[in-house]
Amino acid sequence: METQLASRIDGKAIAADLRASLKDRVDALPGNARRPGLAVVQVGADPASSVYVRNKRQACETIGYASFGHELPADTSQADLLALVHQLNADPAVDGILVQLPLPTQIDPDAVIGAIDPEKDVDGFHPFNLGRLVLGQPTFASCTPAGVMVLLERSGVSLKGKHAVVVGRSAIVGKPMAALLLNAHATVTICHSRTPDLGAITRQADVLIAAVGRTGIITGDMIKPGAVVIDVGMNRDDAGKLCGDVEFASAQVVAGQITPVPGGVGPMTIAMLMANTWDSYQKRCAAAP
Ligand code: GUN
Repeated sequence: METQLASRIDGKAIAADLRASLKDRVDALPGNARRPGLAVVQVGADPASSVYVRNKRQACETIGYASFGHELPADTSQADLLALVHQLNADPAVDGILVQLPLPTQIDPDAVIGAIDPEKDVDGFHPFNLGRLVLGQPTFASCTPAGVMVLLERSGVSLKGKHAVVVGRSAIVGKPMAALLLNAHATVTICHSRTPDLGAITRQADVLIAAVGRTGIITGDMIKPGAVVIDVGMNRDDAGKLCGDVEFASAQVVAGQITPVPGGVGPMTIAMLMANTWDSYQKRCAAAP
């Protein structure tokens, strides 16, 4: 008997579709209307950050948003960065502010994120917005977990009453992911790298989200047959190849649906950033037309 392989969730196609629908909305704006605007701030020249920042600015251009790039030297003081954030908070052309992380060590990221106007925090990193998310109130949700929710929805995965297991507890992915799944009426368990006998818990998951940042930490024997497996991992192997937290070869013969790396969750992050920027634009236009 031939082994049935899990169906692949095509994040690249879903992200492209989302971006196309945002472009349609921008194209439909009256000619004299202001475009949505996203400010992208990078401090220093970390190569991975430079790639992300370039991709974010390119996405703005393709969709038709204004993008305001601020590239600051690596030795920028916290006071100077905070002054820029305050200036962007006050700029009516800016709907979203993104400060690319990580920041150089002389800067406290919490102080910077906390200085961003929560109404322009399209990354969803501000404690106010994470608090609203936990309370189930409308807010900007962190882009990667918000993208996972869209993947699940578009793949016909219902969450009500399902057991969702999140492996990872970061402020950017694991914690907001758990809140989003809980808000969608899943029963949620959060595990992490120090959870003993991880497999005993992951094997109970109807929906398994791997977001630890360790190559291949989830293997096929840790997956419940037919489960939906979402791999948020973005790790590099020794050869520099992008790989996820899930060992794809052993997982795809057990799972029902699975995201590949690359081409799964990754492309959704920028698409959701663009969606959050659109939402901010609309809200701000409605408040001050
Ligand atoms: N660094 C890695 N991912 C992200 C992200 O989504 N937003 C920001 N601001 N920095 C990041």
